[in-house]
Amino acid sequence: MKVITTPREMQALVITWKGEGLKVGLVPTMGWFHEGHLSLMRKAREVADRVVVSLFVNPMQFAPTEDLDNYPHDLERDRKLAEAEGVDVLYAPEPADMYPAEFKTSVHVSGLTTGLCGASRPGHFDGVTTVVAKLFNQTLPHIAVFGEKDFQQLAVIRQMVRDLDFPIEIIGHAIVREQSGLAMSSRNTYLKEDEMEAAHSLAKAIVQAQHLVGQNKNLSPDQIKEEVTGIILSYPQCTIDYVEILDRSSLQPCERISSESVLVLAVKINQRIRLIDNSTLVGN
Ligand code: PAF
Repeated sequence: MKVITTPREMQALVITWKGEGLKVGLVPTMGWFHEGHLSLMRKAREVADRVVVSLFVNPMQFAPTEDLDNYPHDLERDRKLAEAEGVDVLYAPEPADMYPAEFKTSVHVSGLTTGLCGASRPGHFDGVTTVVAKLFNQTLPHIAVFGEKDFQQLAVIRQMVRDLDFPIEIIGHAIVREQSGLAMSSRNTYLKEDEMEAAHSLAKAIVQAQHLVGQNKNLSPDQIKEEVTGIILSYPQCTIDYVEILDRSSLQPCERISSESVLVLAVKINQRIRLIDNSTLVGN
């Protein structure tokens, strides 16, 4: 596996591959790989001839008050994990190459970015779409694989790809969970032993919501949200950022539960660690 750090070298290699008729897949990441990332790499391996994994902790998507400086980072650890998955290139550009001093552009997707994570993290999605657009231009993939845990991010990226005519197929890949149900996330490493139970409340609430809908499909979204909120707030370390039941495409609140409804959650543990999770409610 090659490690490439400059946009020019990255583009040049992909152009050569494309000249040979090879299909290129990209998995964009911020590193500190866990099983969730590895499953995205395996998916890309399945559908593409060459797999590029980008590793860039993107300062533009973190607010000054957020955890950029503490974000877990170990290139050598991640290099070994990606290599073991048969990745062809680990693309790890330097911040100065991604955002040189004269950088002036931002990609903004309106509407979909204002609520949910966009409400509590203003500017976050502009950082995500800007860096993802740059990564697309630097790695020129035919397909790109993103995790479904970042449900809103995936919807925003799909919209950007449509609006800006990127010739890229976006593949959403299912959430990978710990045995406890906790959705895998690089931020789980911040959790202390005595915060684990509170962190499990998200998955516990999802299972209970699915159970209730399974028993009675006529329950209203508000009734389900009330139950979910009750479970999460029964852990004193938890505060709720949002609990919503949305239509999976429009991200607008649902009036009735259907197979298109998705329960989305963001919860802070001890005001320090913000966890997100989501699930459909029907047909699991
Ligand atoms: O999901 C992530 O890890 C990041 O938001 C992404 C898509 C790699 C952009 O920095």
